[in-house]
Amino acid sequence: MIARPDAPLKVTGSATYALDNVIDGAAHGFLLLSTVAHGEVASMDVGAVRSAPGVLGVYTPFEPLTLHPVNSPLLGPMWLPLQDTNVTFHGQPIGFVVAETFEQARDAAGLVEVTYDERPAATSFADGLASAVDAQPAASEAPPSLSVLADGVASIEDALEASDVTIDATYETAAQNHAAMEPHSAVAVWAGGELTVYTGNQASHLVASDLAGGLGLPADAVRVVNPVVGGAFGGKATSMPAVLAAAAARELGRPVRAALTREQVFTATANRPATVQRITLGARGNGALVAVRHDSWSSTTPDLGFVEPTSHGTSRRWYRTENLEISQKAVPLNIPPATFMRAPGEGPGSFALESAIDELAASLGMDPIALRTRNNSAAPPGKDLQWSGKHLDECFEIGAARFGWAQRSPGGRVDGDWLVGMGTATAMFPGLRFPATVGVTLHADDTATVAASGADPGTGLLGVLGIVAAESLDVDRDRVTPLLGDSRLPPGGLSGGSTATASAGSATMVAASTVIEQLLTLAASPDGPFRDREVGYAHGRVYALDGADRAPMTFGEVLRSTGRDTLGTTGTTAPGEETTKHSFGSWGAQFCEVRVHRLTREIRVSRLLGVFDAGRIINPQAARSQLMGGMIWGVSAALHEGIEFDADGRVATRDLADYLLPVNADIPDVDVRFVEHPDTLLSDLGARGLGEIGLVGMAAAVANAVHNATGVRVRRIPIRLEDLL
Ligand code: MOS
Repeated sequence: MIARPDAPLKVTGSATYALDNVIDGAAHGFLLLSTVAHGEVASMDVGAVRSAPGVLGVYTPFEPLTLHPVNSPLLGPMWLPLQDTNVTFHGQPIGFVVAETFEQARDAAGLVEVTYDERPAATSFADGLASAVDAQPAASEAPPSLSVLADGVASIEDALEASDVTIDATYETAAQNHAAMEPHSAVAVWAGGELTVYTGNQASHLVASDLAGGLGLPADAVRVVNPVVGGAFGGKATSMPAVLAAAAARELGRPVRAALTREQVFTATANRPATVQRITLGARGNGALVAVRHDSWSSTTPDLGFVEPTSHGTSRRWYRTENLEISQKAVPLNIPPATFMRAPGEGPGSFALESAIDELAASLGMDPIALRTRNNSAAPPGKDLQWSGKHLDECFEIGAARFGWAQRSPGGRVDGDWLVGMGTATAMFPGLRFPATVGVTLHADDTATVAASGADPGTGLLGVLGIVAAESLDVDRDRVTPLLGDSRLPPGGLSGGSTATASAGSATMVAASTVIEQLLTLAASPDGPFRDREVGYAHGRVYALDGADRAPMTFGEVLRSTGRDTLGTTGTTAPGEETTKHSFGSWGAQFCEVRVHRLTREIRVSRLLGVFDAGRIINPQAARSQLMGGMIWGVSAALHEGIEFDADGRVATRDLADYLLPVNADIPDVDVRFVEHPDTLLSDLGARGLGEIGLVGMAAAVANAVHNATGVRVRRIPIRLEDLL
């Protein structure tokens, strides 16, 4: 088995994505989006639509599809389209037209005459800051504000005042879009009261549960299938097209496909919010942090649906400090909804915190790595639970040596017309697990399958499951077939929160050891080939412990001799006592070298290095790819990516020409290294997550390198040429 079992399918074009499921008789749906940012749909004249060629169904807030409220276990209440006439952003779904062909549906949708009662729209984040409200950060039980003060210290202001050196600066990060290669889409098919939906997602069992809720069906009447996913970094945790396709298919009595266009993905899904973050640091002359204050504002929707947990994701945990105060505020706006996006909180939060640390190092005249090492922590501030394993100093040490950090001078260096600078930053992502169930089945032909309902959106989970199962069954990898992406499979392997490997991997170990026990019981049973013998298992074989008179048998031979085709079971794991004993996180040291042209101010990234401490690395090739992808995304955040809204709250960057992304020519060779210290305090597998940490800190490393090269401190990303003029 190769490291990425799905890779040949993907690179040869034979992978079956959701829309590739061509179903006989399927009709095509097209979304209609609002053209105002705030108000109410007053009327929708669909007369011309109904008589347009090929039209089968027209659904609007006035003639909606029947749906029930959905409370998603992961994301809370789910917004359902067409259920009322409220419009809260430009580009909101307000209609769904179904026709015989995609083109007919699209053309007919253009014939709908819509009138609105428009209301004033709040669309400017800058203007909204004054009316920000305290808001609970997403995916957190924590209150918006937290404060830790040393004994005898009355306030964070007092602690800051007592510091020898302070830094007080405000940073801004742009909103970003989930423009995955595979646009959001679904194909829904009903048969005998049961529904099958093909739709890209991050955990098929969760989308199936959302659909069952929305359609008022028992959970087992819905099957969601997604063997491959064309990218999902938090943006496919739910599937709005699936809800529409399934409900319309039920009404029309035939299969329905619903596909968002690339432009529609930019408004009809959800984004990473923009942030403003003010950081105040106080330190002693020797660099020891005395006080950290991190106030954060996140753009969000009027219902405060999602708040980017920047200060909670970074300053709350990263450095040793006696005094800490963080806050999280939200600015409700009439813009498309916000949601999780790779390293939600840690990504934008680390741009602010790690830029501020770099500014503090410059103020102190200290090396930025020495300052970080000086403030390394054994536990999060104000907590007793020590990190289970934290080898951040080792990451910096190895990274500094590999990168040639000793050659960095505080004012950068000049190479012809280019100003060259180096920057660094810390990366961190919490080590988490979710409950997971995984099935392992032995087959009579001496192969095995390992299966879970979760998804591999390009993260490498498929390979991880195969590797862990092969290792646990003590057989060659090419004997094991991993399966993912079908809600009929055991519910494990949700791809989110960098949890899949530790969660599904540890459940795989349990399933494998249980099935081996069952195999031994079978082998020694009255009908078994080792009747009444003491038996053991090694190298995929059952053998007699008490003598060499009996040749070992492969598990397939044992199954065949007992007349069985298969022997299978499931294993389940869940976070347990470990969370009361330790704090868990993966750590890393990011390095970047930039070259800035002295006249044009063009910024080129010339070298990237990341050294990561993510516990045991199960699949080095896929792990390296994950981290490289994250690091490149960090460069993208620093120099390219950002949603621009016009004055009416319309997304101006609605395609991959206007929404800038780095291309190969923007990215140098990326050097990824691991320090491998298995973390068996988190799970028996020893792996901690690495899906998200690659992005964390990188934007700050770029900005810090730009500062080193040019002397210009840019506190807003993406950094543009004009910021350096
Ligand atoms: Mo991700 S933002 O953990 O889906």
